[in-house]
Amino acid sequence: MRRSEPRLQRKLLAWLLLPLLLLLVLDTAVAWWNVLRHANLAYDRALQEIAREIVLHVRPAAGGPRLELSDAAARVLLNDTEDRLWFRVQGQDGTLLGGDGGLPTAPPSAPSAGPRFYDTTIHGEPVRMVAARLPAAGDPAGTPVQVEVAETLHKRRRLAWEMLANVVVPQLLLIAVTAAVVWVGISRGLAPLRRLRQAVSDRSHLDLSPIPLDDVPGEVRPLVQEVNDLLGRLARTFDFQNRFVADAAHQLKTPVSGLKAQIELALRETQPERLRHSLDQLYISADRLSRLVRQLLSLARNEPGALHSLNLQPLDLHAFALEVSMEWVPHALRRGIDLGFEGPDTPLVIDADGDRLRELLNNLIDNAIRYSQAGGRVTVRTAPAAGGECLLAVSDDGPRIPPQERDRVFERFHRLLGTPEDGSGLGLAIVSEIATLHGARIQLEDDTDGVGNTFTVFFRQRPAAPGLAEASDGRL
Ligand SMILES: Nc1ncnc2c1ncn2[C@@H]1O[C@H](COP(=O)(O)OP(=O)(O)OP(=O)(O)O)[C@@H](O)[C@H]1O
Ligand SMILES: [Mg+2]
Repeated sequence: MRRSEPRLQRKLLAWLLLPLLLLLVLDTAVAWWNVLRHANLAYDRALQEIAREIVLHVRPAAGGPRLELSDAAARVLLNDTEDRLWFRVQGQDGTLLGGDGGLPTAPPSAPSAGPRFYDTTIHGEPVRMVAARLPAAGDPAGTPVQVEVAETLHKRRRLAWEMLANVVVPQLLLIAVTAAVVWVGISRGLAPLRRLRQAVSDRSHLDLSPIPLDDVPGEVRPLVQEVNDLLGRLARTFDFQNRFVADAAHQLKTPVSGLKAQIELALRETQPERLRHSLDQLYISADRLSRLVRQLLSLARNEPGALHSLNLQPLDLHAFALEVSMEWVPHALRRGIDLGFEGPDTPLVIDADGDRLRELLNNLIDNAIRYSQAGGRVTVRTAPAAGGECLLAVSDDGPRIPPQERDRVFERFHRLLGTPEDGSGLGLAIVSEIATLHGARIQLEDDTDGVGNTFTVFFRQRPAAPGLAEASDGRL
């Protein structure tokens, strides 16, 4: 199993450490520059002191100033445990009075300027030099001589490194401690997530109960709540599917056994007329079975979670209902039913899935014709309704559905006792599912003429688009 927490842990740590390290680099650069400046300041003063000391050994003489510095005194003056020092003294006219004539020449400067410090190299080695014009000692005229002292940079560098280490090492330690604390802190903080992951991975695939929220940190609680919500929806879908499979198997069992028995009987028939009669019966049974299968499939297709497959389009309810009703005219005529249609003059535009709406209306008209007596009237009606709604109503002359049954007829497989016609009790369940998918509501009442029932479906209406189908009234 892959471990996922360290990635978050490493990411957080990187976010913390990278800026800290960058800061450290910046800080070190600034500190290095500062430290060098201070080290230079301190040692430059010492270098200047040496130049002053040397000038004390310059004496006025008849042919110009002379440097009276013994080798021993020079060694003492230039003695240093870490660095090498050189000096040079020149008269005003540039004559070498003493020291090392090969020293690099000082950069030009204003005549009155004080001591000048600069970096240069001697034999390829970096050095710090001071050049000063100082009056020779004991010269009443105060004629200045040029004194230069050079020194390698070893102790300056050492001091700088020491000072830098004093600045950087504690900072590095601080960063290391911070990183360790953060690492441990995040590890501990993520422990509930690890437990959560374990709890989820230990679950059976059949367990769709909600994940307990007690130990879940506040940050991920909304996520777990969403997952629980999803689990709840999945549980409802599974439940629906299980019920559907059980119902379907139960409903199919009897007709399939009946069909099998009928086929066995037909196979034993020897007389052509009786065989023909058996086949006719078989055809009727197979037709009933095929309708049951269609209804079952429709029920599954329109289950409450099928919203994603809904293809809503603007549709003129009036024109649509007229078209579907027309298709039922031949069937109604055969049954001796007077099928009528009523609608307004203006289109009634709704958002609907045409295929599903057709199924809804087919089931309502089918019931109305099926349960009405021959000579009865069935009317399909569309009309605007209050509150921005419009209605689709199917009225019949069939037996009145008693008020206490009006909710139950929409349940699956529920049929009124004594209903003579064939049917599986799924039509109105499908109507109800399709209406719910469309956000529509259904009302079942006694027909206004006092005979039969009226099923009314209320849809939300869209603002009517001009130019859609013309309305018509009358018997079809
Ligand atoms: N227009 C109606 N007039 C009188 N009774 C009706 C009407 N519509 C439905 N019913 C009653 O409600 C029951 C349920 O109707 P539903 O359409 O759900 O199933 P069905 O018609 O029996 O079977 P099918 O699945 O083939 O439509 C019917 O069996 C019938 O008893
Ligand atoms: Mg029906």
